[in-house]
Amino acid sequence: MSLAKKLVVTTLKNLIPYQSARRIGGMGQTYLNANESAFPPYQMPTRETWNRYPDFLPSQLARAYSRYANVSPNNVLAVRGADEAIDLLIRTYCEPNRDAIRIQDPTYSMYEFVAQAHGIAIETIPLDDQFGLNVAANQQAGTDGKRLKLVFICNPNNPTGNLVPLRDIIRIAEAQRDRAFVVVDEAYIEYASAETLLPLLAEYPNLVVIRTLSKAFALAAIRVGFIVAEEDVLEQINKLIPPYPMPDESAKIGINALSDTGIEYMRSCCEQIIALREQTRNELMQLSSVEEVYDSQTNFLLVRFKKASDAMKHLLSAGIVIRDQTHFMQLPQHLRISIGVPEDMQETLSHLQRL
Ligand SMILES: Cc1ncc(COP(=O)(O)O)c(C=O)c1O
Repeated sequence: MSLAKKLVVTTLKNLIPYQSARRIGGMGQTYLNANESAFPPYQMPTRETWNRYPDFLPSQLARAYSRYANVSPNNVLAVRGADEAIDLLIRTYCEPNRDAIRIQDPTYSMYEFVAQAHGIAIETIPLDDQFGLNVAANQQAGTDGKRLKLVFICNPNNPTGNLVPLRDIIRIAEAQRDRAFVVVDEAYIEYASAETLLPLLAEYPNLVVIRTLSKAFALAAIRVGFIVAEEDVLEQINKLIPPYPMPDESAKIGINALSDTGIEYMRSCCEQIIALREQTRNELMQLSSVEEVYDSQTNFLLVRFKKASDAMKHLLSAGIVIRDQTHFMQLPQHLRISIGVPEDMQETLSHLQRL
């Protein structure tokens, strides 16, 4: 056994790395596997200086986001993507080998992955057959002798695409009020028809919201996300932040995208994606290889095929890369297709018609 294998921490010994779209790979010319925006970002600023460290915390970026999200700047922490938000929350609030997080299954795999990597137990509560939350189970305290610290709810949920009613989340937050944080990942909220949870943060101090510029703002490459929560929740997380976390360029591009015209541009992109999503959904439902296309409040569609492996292979051989979801127990024949530009969707549909 190599020295590295002998010395590595226990939690990493058998950990399988997170299977991101980039890591899984797949070669093609049409990439519909990472829920990226198909639009170019809003105009990019030019660079002035490279020799200085950036701000410790990019306060202007947090202010710009607070204005967009209609919350106080004191309630916003800018981080390097929603993925870092998940990591920071788990490392700030969970003790290895003692605490637990709770996830709703199937959901975004990073909650489970980060917890595993840090030796935190994972309680899994299955979504019902409409992909709704099991509210009663989520109102319970932790089980198995572990202290439940964070309840993750992805809303709208990846990979199922649906929204859960805010009242369900509130009932869970109320039950967990003095016990655990309810962390709501709103990465896709701009594509959804329903309201965000943000106006309720003051009323429910154990609510935490995660946001990102990677999806609707079409800025996945700059790695900017936000944690929105009560000040004292952020104060603890702040202790973990390295000296100069956010590249200046990312902060500037983010601030620019959060200007009035940047927000207007983002909204018009979302409208087009939503219209194309609905059109694609209707067309997919006509196909003989497709059994169900779930209602989506995001920039992707979850599709149940008669035989998912055939559809996946067929598209891949045509250079169209989508995302396999069949590793989830409840999604045995399901694939996830991001909404690209109209030509991407036409190309995908026409190949599926030939299946
Ligand atoms: C639900 C959810 N949360 C968070 C992320 C990560 O976002 P970011 O690019 O901001 O790290 C993703 C990316 O696919 C996601 O689907």
